[in-house]
Amino acid sequence: MADELKRNRHDDARAVLARNDRGGYTVPTDRLYPFQWNWDSAFVAMGFATFDVDRAYRELERLIEGQWDDGMIPHIVFHAPSDTYFPGPDVWGTRHRIPTSGITQPPVFGMALRFVHEAAVAAGQQDSIERTRPLFEAALRSHRWWLKARDPDRLGLVAILHPWESGSDNSPAWDEALARVPTATKTEIRRKDTGHVDASMRPRDVDYQRFIHLVDIYRDCGWNPQSQWSVSPFKVADVQMTGILARATADLIPLASALGAQAEAAELSEMHHFLTEGLKRRWRDPLRRFVSLDLVSGQDIEAPTQAGFIPLVAVSLDANQRSAVAAEIERWCDGMVVGLPSTAPFSPAFEPKRYWRGPVWAVINWLIVDGLRVNAINELASSLERGTVRAIEQAGFCEYFDPTTGEGLGGNTFSWTAAAYLVMSRRVVDG
Ligand code: GLC
Repeated sequence: MADELKRNRHDDARAVLARNDRGGYTVPTDRLYPFQWNWDSAFVAMGFATFDVDRAYRELERLIEGQWDDGMIPHIVFHAPSDTYFPGPDVWGTRHRIPTSGITQPPVFGMALRFVHEAAVAAGQQDSIERTRPLFEAALRSHRWWLKARDPDRLGLVAILHPWESGSDNSPAWDEALARVPTATKTEIRRKDTGHVDASMRPRDVDYQRFIHLVDIYRDCGWNPQSQWSVSPFKVADVQMTGILARATADLIPLASALGAQAEAAELSEMHHFLTEGLKRRWRDPLRRFVSLDLVSGQDIEAPTQAGFIPLVAVSLDANQRSAVAAEIERWCDGMVVGLPSTAPFSPAFEPKRYWRGPVWAVINWLIVDGLRVNAINELASSLERGTVRAIEQAGFCEYFDPTTGEGLGGNTFSWTAAAYLVMSRRVVDG
């Protein structure tokens, strides 16, 4: 019976991906997010790889159609027009072959590529090497872009220039840094999101004005990375971004070897070392987690958000740090119906229904579970994974979940939640 239920749920998850398929790429969900999003697609590719390796490769191939000549993979690729989303291509005003946004998102791409490649090899797919090669080259170019454009001072940490780049749009981690950004905009703001989803769950209007102010000034820089770096009032060396980049770098190394690319394998190892050293300097004993760095003020960002745990995907902690981080994660989950809240429940910034200010996100749990396993914190990893799978089984393939009730929020046809289910539920033993 349990097997039967699981099979049905897998069919449902695949049906969500099929419904959001727009021809080789998958929209995060209909209407609210009607284009291809960067890190969503990387997670989705891993979901597809559990049952259709060809389609998984296709997802990544379509994403890099949007890759810029300088190596950046944009956060949105506007493959086909839609008027249900703001800001569209006219606001971004970028000059790539096909319309894209002008900022990026976490480079889960490299992690996904390894996952898909290994699934292809396991399935005996003959063309796996040929299919992987151009994607590997695209990933490497994007990692070089990250280091050059977003760590010009060689800190071993990459910076975001817009909260949307982090993937955690309105996280309390950005509150102080974002407060310095003016609210004046040249672009008329025509929010569409609050027409699809209750405004109380979405970022506030004032946040939106600042988000668009940043877009305006970067567009005025002609999207030149050096000019953007020098004018930006918002620059945060983000441990979530750097953790993901470091892990994706590690995941590209075996691919480089499989492709016979020895020089690239050495370059990636060096990059990985550099980034993990940068991350290690961001660990804070009293907080029992990693902290991002506000490059404008020079201050640590201490707001307790999920980002502080993401470097576990890349860094091996020592024994003291392992027990500290496990205790901290348990503290955040204490009294919650579903963990891990994206903002600690004991923080004054905690809002259990508002987007990145408290809700649980399945893909974040996927990364944290992975990071816990990298660090051999296996029991906690399994219980977080089980909790995530159950939350999805009870509430559906929602965008995110209220940690205090388990309620699913933001609609129930989200591609990356379906992908998370396909990958995580296979590892969960019933009972
Ligand atoms: C929101 C999320 C971002 C995600 C996008 C599409 O902007 O904050 O992480 O990529 O929606 O799902």
